Amino acid sequence: MDKKKIIFVDDDDKILNGLKRMLHDSEDKWELNFVNSADAAIELIGSTQFDVVVSDVKMPEKTGIDLLRELKSNEETKALPVIMLTGLNEADLKRKALELGAIDLLNKPVQFEDLHARINSVLKVKEFQDELLEKNSLLEEQLYQKQKMEVIGNLASGAFHDINNILAIIGGYSQLIKVNPNLVEKSMAQINESCKLASKLIQQVLEFAKSKKEMKSLLDIGILIEDGTELLRHCIPKRIELKLEKPDNLVKLQLNQTQIFQLLMNLCLNAANAITDKGEIRVKLSETFLDNNHAASTSGEEIPVGRYVTLSVSDSGYGMGNKTLNGMFTPFFSKKWGEGGTGLGMVVVQRIIGNHNGKINVESGSDAGTRITVYFPVEASLN
Ligand SMILES: Nc1ncnc2c1ncn2[C@@H]1O[C@H](COP(=O)(O)OP(=O)(O)OP(=O)(O)O)[C@@H](O)[C@H]1O
Ligand SMILES: [Mg+2]
Repeated sequence: MDKKKIIFVDDDDKILNGLKRMLHDSEDKWELNFVNSADAAIELIGSTQFDVVVSDVKMPEKTGIDLLRELKSNEETKALPVIMLTGLNEADLKRKALELGAIDLLNKPVQFEDLHARINSVLKVKEFQDELLEKNSLLEEQLYQKQKMEVIGNLASGAFHDINNILAIIGGYSQLIKVNPNLVEKSMAQINESCKLASKLIQQVLEFAKSKKEMKSLLDIGILIEDGTELLRHCIPKRIELKLEKPDNLVKLQLNQTQIFQLLMNLCLNAANAITDKGEIRVKLSETFLDNNHAASTSGEEIPVGRYVTLSVSDSGYGMGNKTLNGMFTPFFSKKWGEGGTGLGMVVVQRIIGNHNGKINVESGSDAGTRITVYFPVEASLN
């Protein structure tokens, strides 16, 4: 088994040497590292994966509290457990350390038994946490897959309708050839076109259905959304007009292609479900800069100032009252129970947006249609 890596931070070399001697016998199971400043700790933690930090609270220049704050505010290191070494009478510093997320406190001078026991228990907790995180990401992947299958079911049943029509066209032209041999060439061309269309449709659904766990890459969201809306046109009822508006040159973003497809499908299928008669769905992509004066989002989520690519899906459907607006992101919340709804669509949408560091805004009212806007931060995709 790999040795657990522990880093000790104290400006006093005598204390570091004392700790070194104290823990000498543990070196067969722990890899011990000693540094004498918070900056040196930050540098080492940036290049090596540690399991525990043990830091003195009082240090000149950058203190243990500063170190803790810096570690907790960094996405990469915020889960790293920190044990603080404090003096007996430093109640304020102890409170501050706990507030900032120190996992444990130890009084100086440190006793071997105490230190050994605390490090052991923190390592155990971290092991459980890592296990949970792994299980969590596995469950998350299963959620995406399961929900994707629901979406594919919806798409396929719509697409089968179109494929059925295409087969009828092929049948019609085959009959025509029999009746009027002069039309062979024209009919064959039509049959050929129809076969190509049906095959493309099947290919698009199958491509989306392929189970693959892909990473994000720099992509043109315009192309993804264009492909998606084209497929959707075949899958939603013909009484609903689906329009796409997009500028030509959108900045490229770090995107997970399958997830963006899944997000678009969910938003548009929900929109289509909300339109009971004739109606319209508008998909719009644009680039925008939100400054300090931008309107707060109506769904209450703060959208930070910055440059964004926005994707909005508006529909002329029956909209949502407050109860639905408040519940729509809750797992298994669905007004379509008994009609095949699972109530996982918007949960997955929200997670996909989170995975792209984005934000969502929902504007809707009873009988007033709905507009859902997704904000993809451009900054996160640069460099
Ligand atoms: N565009 C919309 N117009 C009206 N209601 C909507 C819209 N989008 C979502 N909702 C409401 O939010 C609920 C939750 O949506 P979600 O996509 O999570 O589940 P669902 O569509 O009911 O089921 P599933 O997506 O599994 O088929 C829907 O049942 C619906 O009541
Ligand atoms: Mg849905």
